[in-house]
Amino acid sequence: MTKLPAPVARRRTFAIISHPDAGKTTLTEKLLLFGGAIQLAGEVKSKKNRMQTRSDWMGIERERGISVVTSVMTFEYADCVFNLLDTPGHEDFSEDTYRTLSAVDSAVMVIDAAKGIEARTRKLFEVCRLRDIPIVTFVNKLDRESRDPFDLLDEIEKTLALDTAPMTWPIGRGRSFAGTYDLRRPQVRRLDSDAAPIPVSGPQDEAIAALLPAEEVSAWRDEVALAQEACRPFDLASFREGHLTPVFFGSALRNFGVRDLIDAMAELAPPPRAQAADARTVEAHEERMTGFVFKIQANMDPNHRDRIAFIRVCSGRLTRGMKAKLVRTGKPMSLNTPQFFFARDRALADEAFAGDVVGLPNHGTLRIGDTLTEGEDIVFRGVPSFAPEILRRIKLQDAMKAKKLRESLQQMAEEGVVQLFLPHDGSGAIVGVVGALQLDVLAERLQAEYGLPVAYEPTRFSVCRWIASDDRLERDRFVDANLSAIAADLDGDPVFLASTAFSLKYEQDRWPAIRFTDVKDYQ
Ligand code: G4P
Repeated sequence: MTKLPAPVARRRTFAIISHPDAGKTTLTEKLLLFGGAIQLAGEVKSKKNRMQTRSDWMGIERERGISVVTSVMTFEYADCVFNLLDTPGHEDFSEDTYRTLSAVDSAVMVIDAAKGIEARTRKLFEVCRLRDIPIVTFVNKLDRESRDPFDLLDEIEKTLALDTAPMTWPIGRGRSFAGTYDLRRPQVRRLDSDAAPIPVSGPQDEAIAALLPAEEVSAWRDEVALAQEACRPFDLASFREGHLTPVFFGSALRNFGVRDLIDAMAELAPPPRAQAADARTVEAHEERMTGFVFKIQANMDPNHRDRIAFIRVCSGRLTRGMKAKLVRTGKPMSLNTPQFFFARDRALADEAFAGDVVGLPNHGTLRIGDTLTEGEDIVFRGVPSFAPEILRRIKLQDAMKAKKLRESLQQMAEEGVVQLFLPHDGSGAIVGVVGALQLDVLAERLQAEYGLPVAYEPTRFSVCRWIASDDRLERDRFVDANLSAIAADLDGDPVFLASTAFSLKYEQDRWPAIRFTDVKDYQ
């Protein structure tokens, strides 16, 4: 393998995956504290305040106390540049999350020690597995009553089919939680001390016994002996291939175990990976700049109708003022104001390297899934779009504003807020979403940003599939035969709309040469 240039080798671009309430936000803040990206006095702020300080762009987010907006936070620690990509907690915004995961090289999986693997963690893990993203596990909330660590490791192995290698072992749990023992080198990190780990002679060391209630000491020693004998040792290659996860125990709230976690990310997590494009795979060490847009965030500043496209740099060096080619249109584009995002601030980025995520302000030129290069015609794959599960027609109260509605819907669809389908028979536009909250966000934004009050009407359709065929004529025949159930997506690609899963199946059986797909890669 070719050696990565030094600035690329020190990039760590990752996301945190977890079930709501497992402690992702708390952990994010602690990680940022290590990176010096924020200064918070004392413990984590209450959810209410936190939401306002972290991302207060959207009323709906504030009202409901959920994080709708995906953003990026860059910070430096241990000679590494970390790009932490935040993902929305609510499952209704899972599309956003999936796209974000297409832009990371590794992930931290946060598990609540009392609850183990929960539904959403599992789902997000499956997405990571599709791309073999290496996962570091953080078992959180050890300061509360929690499950037996062996039990938790066993659950990860069984439900996720993922090998585990515990790196630390909790000393006590719940009320008696006193710290962790390092399974790789004999040392102890104490909950009540910020200092460096204390070297010990081994699990038998009296210094550890002193931390535990007397009646728990011998059981704890047996546990550690078993962990050292029976658990898998850490294996870097297996971790990097996505087969094994190193496991750390701690408490994000108490800022405990977080340093071990971030040290592990610096030491073990992979630098920027090669990225698959349609024509070839782009290596991170290549000299020419390439990148793709995985997220668009609009109207972050309500006074200016600006849109920030977040681009993951895949190779080369992105410099301020450079000209890049937007492959979808073939047109050149000047990157005059690329920006880095920190916890609360942004700053102009003079240069960015593979692995970095920069925001590019634009007025609608860039779309989700767009590829930027220094001239080469390649398109990165893997920024998916999912067949919507809810389809609605938009009812506009003021018919005079139909044109404005069409334009604003187009913009929202380009940002990935909703998907937009224009029926071939000329009937009104249909919006499709994966989660119902997306509809609320759309309505609120149409009202707040475009002054368009809208309502939704049900359609007779409930299922949507992209259609394709190797036989172009056959596809045209299918379209002609089903004209009232065909619509075009944002790119003009045809979709088939069915009223029920049954009727979809019926058509699938009748038209074997047509492929009906529920995932589409942006191109
Ligand atoms: P999320 O982003 O994954 O949804 O979780 P978040 O960090 O918001 O944490 C969910 C709740 O769990 C919060 O309490 C938080 O304080 C708590 N928590 C996080 N880490 C730990 C931990 O290590 N130990 C303990 N005991 N609690 C932890 P909350 O009461 O819901 O919110 P807040 O009002 O305290 O912010």
